[in-house]
Amino acid sequence: MRHLAAALTLFLCISFFSAAQETRPAPKTAYYPVPVKAAREPNPVKPTPESIAQGKKIYSYDCASCHGVTGDGKSDVAKDLKMPDLTDPARLKDRTDGEIFYILKTGHGDMPPEGDRVKTEQLWDLVNYVRSLARKPAADQKPPS
Ligand code: HEC
Repeated sequence: MRHLAAALTLFLCISFFSAAQETRPAPKTAYYPVPVKAAREPNPVKPTPESIAQGKKIYSYDCASCHGVTGDGKSDVAKDLKMPDLTDPARLKDRTDGEIFYILKTGHGDMPPEGDRVKTEQLWDLVNYVRSLARKPAADQKPPS
């Protein structure tokens, strides 16, 4: 019984805080936290070659202008912005797919929101593509000579 009460209290706290977070307007600072609910959203689209190819297409016209064709953040537009290097494997390592989805959907700091420009499923394709940009640490590093 005590366990049940404790679990219930915990549940109520969590619902209260996530509800509070949803109604709070997003602060205009870089890297404001992603709501917990959005961060936990599972990616319903498997990172198949088809999904990644779809994501790449959208990336090439909506994202490459800032993030660069390879995702390294070296583009003309980006000179005045603090661009993250999406090819750095450490960059998105600790982010969930749900967080990346949320960032793409709502924008982040100087990054404009994708909003309703693309369908939900296409945005997950984009998440899969963004994940594929990270360099594979071992594969493309030359062995020491
Ligand atoms: C106007 C230039 C611009 C465009 C267009 C743009 N971004 Fe960004 N993006 C940025 C900037 C600047 C940041 C860093 C944001 C910050 O400081 O909060 C960023 C951040 C990100 C991040 C988060 C990196 C992290 O470490 O959390 C991801 C992922 C991302 N962009 C992917 C995309 C994708 C995919 C698109 C296309 C739908 C896109 N961006 C379009 C400028 C842009």
